Amino acid sequence: MSRVVIRGGMLLDQTGERTGDVAIESGRIIAVGEKLGDGLHGDTALDATGCVVSPGFVDLHVHLREPGKEEAEPIETGSRAAALGGFTAVVAMPNTDPAHDTGSVIEFVRAQGRKAGLCEVLPSGCITVDRAGTQLAPFAELAAAGVHVFTDDGNGVQDPQLMRRALEYAGPLGIVLAQHCEVAALTKGAVMHEGACCSRLGLPGWPAIAEELMVMRDIELVRLTGVPMHFLHLSTARSVEMVRAAKAEGLNITAEAAPHHFTLSDEQLNGYDPVFKVNPPLRTRADIDAIKAGLADGTIDAIATDHAPHAPHTKEVPLDEAPPGMLGLETALALSISELDMPLFDIVAALSWKPAAIAGVADRHGRPIEVGEPANLTVFDPTQKWTVVPAQLASKSRNTPSAGRALTGKVRHTILNGVAVVVNSAATK
Ligand code: DOR
Repeated sequence: MSRVVIRGGMLLDQTGERTGDVAIESGRIIAVGEKLGDGLHGDTALDATGCVVSPGFVDLHVHLREPGKEEAEPIETGSRAAALGGFTAVVAMPNTDPAHDTGSVIEFVRAQGRKAGLCEVLPSGCITVDRAGTQLAPFAELAAAGVHVFTDDGNGVQDPQLMRRALEYAGPLGIVLAQHCEVAALTKGAVMHEGACCSRLGLPGWPAIAEELMVMRDIELVRLTGVPMHFLHLSTARSVEMVRAAKAEGLNITAEAAPHHFTLSDEQLNGYDPVFKVNPPLRTRADIDAIKAGLADGTIDAIATDHAPHAPHTKEVPLDEAPPGMLGLETALALSISELDMPLFDIVAALSWKPAAIAGVADRHGRPIEVGEPANLTVFDPTQKWTVVPAQLASKSRNTPSAGRALTGKVRHTILNGVAVVVNSAATK
């Protein structure tokens, strides 16, 4: 069987940085060192000159629209966008139609991911049946089907008694509950962040406290039950502060932030463009600074895209009618490199091994680059400049908030289970 040899890169993993080549065969790393594979017949050489070779990225938060809304993003195009973004695994959110609340839907999503063969698709499971917030989903059945992350994302679990029971059932199963923090009673009809900008534009606001109250409640439920919880897409300064304090107390909490929440503010809505409508909404510059600080000091563990494709006709409507959400998979690395004042090591940690641990896939993703390890790797050029052209994205939808933006940092190759699924920034299938 032919080998893949990644030549000339700087290897960066949880053990540190060093230069070297990486040879891969039958899905595993078979050698790490200088000048590997020279002259060996049948080697496929991947040039990594000027690049970082890192463990593959893991996205904890991706909306693939299959089953139900394939016109926005079938699993195949979403997987291709993920691979081009350097992700070797993505957690697929449960708000499909039908939702991820039965073993058969879980199996279907996983199988479609396997068929596409571009990244590992990890279906999340619902916390409540059909994400309706009234009855717990069959956790044991879904866990037996291999689900590790449970969430009603798109909705927060409103009922505190139900959330308490969810945690009590989750504990013995060893699964993780991931909360979309939004007290729905405070966000009815909301279009954007409640603040000066929204008053000026005359639009209904989504107040920061709607997120913060649920963060506060769930920190207390973690304290009560001792069961871990993950907070999805944190967007406000106060949320970051509460999570920081909870972690300092030793509570078992993890959190993520999306690139749009550390790069874009509510001022983007000035032109009433639905591409900037997202849930939770773009916040203030002070919130952006707090999210950045939270990532820099590790309060926020992971960068997760909340990739939310929407078919063009659904976004080309007035702001209040448009669905919330924006693309993220193909721009996450570049936005992180371009906008975060963090060492590359910490950025890769937040994109790779830290989310791999939260997703429960640390046995195969986010691994150190060592002989015998599964070959799930990302090779990226941290200095390459490029401009985001929506028509060139692999996603079936076009709702990127970065259209026309000049960014720095680009994925060159992605290796999934030893197979080069992205070579020279193009998908191989
Ligand atoms: O902006 C968002 N879009 N936030 C969510 O919570 C759901 C997501 C979607 O499914 O489009």
